[in-house]
Formats: sequence, structure tokens, C-alpha cells
Amino acid sequence: MSDLENRVVDPNEQLDDESEELSLRPQKLTEYIGQKEAKEMLEVYIKAALKRNEALDHTLLYGPPGLGKTTLAQIIANELGVNMKVVSGPAIERSGDLAAVLSTLEEGDVLFIDEIHRLPRYVEEVLYSAMEDYQLDIMVGKDSQARSIRVDLPPFTLVGATTRFGDLSAPLRDRFGVVLRLDYYTVDELNAIVSRTARVHETKIDLNASIELAMRSRGTPRIANRLFRRVRDFADVKNNGEITIDICKEALSKLGIDNDGLDYTDYRYLRAIVETFNGGPVGVESLAATISEEVSTIEDVYEPYLLQEGYIKRSNRGRMATEKAYNKLGVKFYKGIFA
Ligand SMILES: Nc1ncnc2c1ncn2[C@@H]1O[C@H](COP(=O)(O)OP(=O)(O)O)[C@@H](O)[C@H]1O
Ligand SMILES: [Mg+2]
Repeated sequence: MSDLENRVVDPNEQLDDESEELSLRPQKLTEYIGQKEAKEMLEVYIKAALKRNEALDHTLLYGPPGLGKTTLAQIIANELGVNMKVVSGPAIERSGDLAAVLSTLEEGDVLFIDEIHRLPRYVEEVLYSAMEDYQLDIMVGKDSQARSIRVDLPPFTLVGATTRFGDLSAPLRDRFGVVLRLDYYTVDELNAIVSRTARVHETKIDLNASIELAMRSRGTPRIANRLFRRVRDFADVKNNGEITIDICKEALSKLGIDNDGLDYTDYRYLRAIVETFNGGPVGVESLAATISEEVSTIEDVYEPYLLQEGYIKRSNRGRMATEKAYNKLGVKFYKGIFA
């Protein structure tokens, strides 16, 4: 197993057992735990669209990986009672690929574009008239014979998901009628998610073990479910399958997850700022090079949680470690001129 596959924290979808993920995904809005605000808004918009017998407005979901964007997109389609077509931004290389998908849509369908910020710009341009007027402009013929023809599309709903709201172009952003941000989950909500996961897997888990998992999941359901699976392995081998607090703590410590849910890579990251760069400010490229990680992994996966929990601060001059980071590493904090 490579280092990356071994990682419990990296909330990348591809690394999960897909069938298992599928069975865990809530199907209805009422089964979707947390994200109260987004849920309330969606409930109204979906009801209104159904009542008027219209397609739901184009909807953008954004937030860190593993918070439930794909799950919510599928729930939207379920609640509307329509089919969902799924494509991924980086996988669409030619505008013809997107046109092909668009032309298969039926009235009211949901087109889900994951990682929509990674759509090539010329592909994105095909979307503008499709979103605005339900029309598709396609080029036919070659060279001097080339001309553009217009094809009508049925009304449909584009649901876009992105971890990087800021990377979306303004014209694309402006064409979404509904924009919803997903936030990190509370311990209570994650506890409910872990309990639900345990029920689906018919596994017995003590309440305090479930809370322990919730506290160490960095506010992220995907990580909660992944930690659950690893802890369950320990319970199966050592405790006839029952997850107790002791089993839970033992497993998490073997996995290198600390009490606050930070893992080996978080520590390497914080140590790099504190020890190699004297607490910062340091640019993300230098940090990435120092700990041999991709800039995008650091920016999308690790930093959002460290920022939200106050271990680091970001300024236009780079990242800085806070007193909390120093305490975490057991290094004495000197309040310098940048702190
Ligand atoms: N609100 C939620 N309630 C219950 N489970 C959730 C919720 N959000 C996410 N999950 C679980 O977390 C996993 C990851 O969610 P996903 O929708 O794939 O995240 P994203 O698309 O934002 O990366 C899903 O398999 C699902 O089981
Ligand atoms: Mg997803």
C-alpha cells in the first residue's frame, strides 16, 4: 500500500470503496445530517420547482472535500424525481464531449458537474447558453464550410460542485441561481453520522466511542466513515466486532491520528512552518517542496481545517503558525513582529 492509499485523512473520493460509499449515502433530504441552512434553502427551492413544474434553478455547491457535495447533488435529483447525469470537470477535454452529454438530458434532469472549476475555459463557454437559454451552439462542417447550428435543450438543472469557489470564472458563477456553501460538521452531527454508519454496517459501537470518532474526524463525514472502517477492523480482530472506547483509542493512535484529528502530514506541515521557516510567513510552494506534497493537496485538504481550527493564519505574504500550533508541537512561542 502506498503512503497515499494508507492515508486516513486525505478525503479524496477515489480512494474509497465505492460500493461501500454508495450504501452509506443518504438518499433523502431528511436523512442528510447537518448543513441546516443549505437544507432549508433547498427544501424551499425544490418544493417551489415541483409546484410550478419547472426545472430547479442551477445550483452551485462548494466547500472542502468530503463534506457531502456529491451526496447532496444526488439527493436533489431524488427529491425532484429526475435522473442525474454525472461528469467531472477535468475529464471533459473537448466541447463536443459536453455537448454530447447535454444532448442526452431529458426534461428536468440534473446534470452534475464535479470539480467544475477545472472545466477548460472553451468547454465552459458551451455551458453559458445551455444554462441561460437551454440552447446548444455546435459547430458543424470544416474550414470554409464550418457553421454553427443551434439546438434546443429541454429545461434542466446544472448542479456544480467545487472545492474552490474562488477559481470559478465570474461568468460561470453568475449563471447559478442558487449558491450553497457546505461547512465543517459539528461533533454532534458527526456522531449522528457515525451512528448511522454503524447501523448500516450492523456494528455495535459505544456512544463514547462514536463521539471520540466524531471529535477526530476534522469536521468531515468522509473521514468519519473512513476512521469508522479502520476502527471496525480492530474491533473485529480484537473484540468480536464491538467498538468500545478502548478499541477506538488504540486504533486511532496506531493510525497516527491525534486527539484533535491531526495526522502525520499535518504535523509535518506545522513543523515545516515552525522549525524550517521560523513560524512563517512562508509561501505554499516552499512548504509543499519542503514536505514533498502537492500544492493542491495542501491547499484543498490540509489547510482549510488547520485555518478553521486556528493553527495557522494566512496573509498575502504567506502562511504563519499561531501560538496554538506551537503548543501542539510543544515548541515555545515567541511573539515576533509578524504574530
Ligand atoms: N450530511 C451527511 N449525512 C450523512 N452522511 C454524509 C453526509 N455528507 C456526507 N456524508 C457521507 O460522507 C461521504 C462523502 O460525501 P461526498 O458527498 O462524497 O462528499 P464531497 O462530494 O463533498 O467530497 C459520503 O459517502 C456519505 O456517506
Ligand atoms: Mg464529491
